[in-house]
Amino acid sequence: MSDAPLAHLDDQVEELLRAIADLASLEELTNAEPTLVGKRSVLSSLQKSLGSLSPEERRDAGARLQEARRRVVEALEAQRRDLEARARVAELDADRLDLGDVVLDAVRVPLGAGHPGIVAITQYALEEVFVGMGFRVEDGPEVESDWYNFEALNMPPAHPARGMWDTFYLELGEPETVVLRTHTSPTQIHLMEKAVAEESLPLHAVMPGRCYRRDTPDARHLAAFHQIEGIVVDRGITFADLAGTIDTFTRAYFGPDIDSRLRPGYFPFTEPSAEFEITCTLCRGEGCRTCSQTGWIELGGCGMIDPAVFAAVGIDAEEWSGFAFGFGIDRCAQMRYQIADMRALIENDLRFVRQFS
Ligand code: DAH
Repeated sequence: MSDAPLAHLDDQVEELLRAIADLASLEELTNAEPTLVGKRSVLSSLQKSLGSLSPEERRDAGARLQEARRRVVEALEAQRRDLEARARVAELDADRLDLGDVVLDAVRVPLGAGHPGIVAITQYALEEVFVGMGFRVEDGPEVESDWYNFEALNMPPAHPARGMWDTFYLELGEPETVVLRTHTSPTQIHLMEKAVAEESLPLHAVMPGRCYRRDTPDARHLAAFHQIEGIVVDRGITFADLAGTIDTFTRAYFGPDIDSRLRPGYFPFTEPSAEFEITCTLCRGEGCRTCSQTGWIELGGCGMIDPAVFAAVGIDAEEWSGFAFGFGIDRCAQMRYQIADMRALIENDLRFVRQFS
C-alpha cells in the first residue's frame, strides 16, 4: 500500500489517546509528553517515514498525520487542563477539610439537656395525663415545717407513723421542726388551706416535686426522688372515684396491658388507705430482681382523705369528701423505660443520660 507507513495510524492514535486519558497527574503528563508528541514520539517517526512516498501520497499522508497530531495534542492539552483543575480542587479540598474539622468540632460539642432528663420527661408526661383527666398542676415547697409534713397530715408529735419516713431535719429554728419534705403530701395541705381561704372548693390538683428520705439507695430507692401527689375534694366523692382514677391513669400512662391493683394499706392521712401497685413492666408479672420476684411494683399510696386532715385545714367533712394519692415519678420512669436499677438515674453515666437528651 502506498501509505503503508500510516497503515496503523488510527490504532496508533487510539493508543495514544488511551495513554493520555490514563495520565493520572501533571507529573506523569510532563514525563510522558516527549514520547507522546515530542521528537521521540510515534508521530514524529511516522513523519520521518513519509520521505519514501511520492509527493502526492506524501501530501495526503501528511494531511492525515497532521490531523492525527492535532487530535493527540488537543487530547493532551485537555488532559493537562483537567489534571490542573483536579490538582486545584484537591488543594482546595485539603484546605476545606481543615476548616471543616474546626467547624465540625464546634458542632459536635454536646448541647446537654435538662437533668435529670428522664425524670423531667416522665413528670411532664404524667402531668399531661392528669391534666387530660381534669386535674390542674400545682407546686409546693421542698423545705417544710413539721406541721405540714406530719402534723396536719394527722401525725401529732411522737405519732408512731412518723417512723414510716426516715426524715432529714434541717438545723433551723427549734430542733426537729424544719424538714426536707419526705413526701409531696404536705402540698395537699397548702392547697386545701388556700382553697378554704379563697373559698374556691372543689379542688382537683396534682402536685409533682422532689422529696427526700434518709434511705440507702438500692435498685428501687433513692435518697432524693420525685413524687406526684393528687387530690380531689368535692361533694359526694367515693372510693370508686379513687379506684377509677388510678385505673384510668395506669392504662393511659403505661398502656392497656399493664394492670393496677389496690391493696389495703395504712396511711395516717387517709381512711381507708390502700397501696397502689402495677404489673412489673420488666418481667411483665413473671417475677424478677426489680420486683423482688412478686411480679408487682408498688407505685405509691392512696385513700379517702381522713376527717382529721379536713379538720386541720378547716374543711367541713360533712359537706366535702375527697381522695388523695401519691406515687414515685422515678419509679414510673423505671417502669416505663424498664430501668433495672434506679441508681442509673443519678449516676450521670453519659451512655444512659444521652438516651433521653
Ligand atoms: N405520702 C405517701 C408516701 O409518700 C403516699 C401517699 C399515700 C400519698 C396515701 C397520699 C395518700 O396522698 O393518700 O408514702
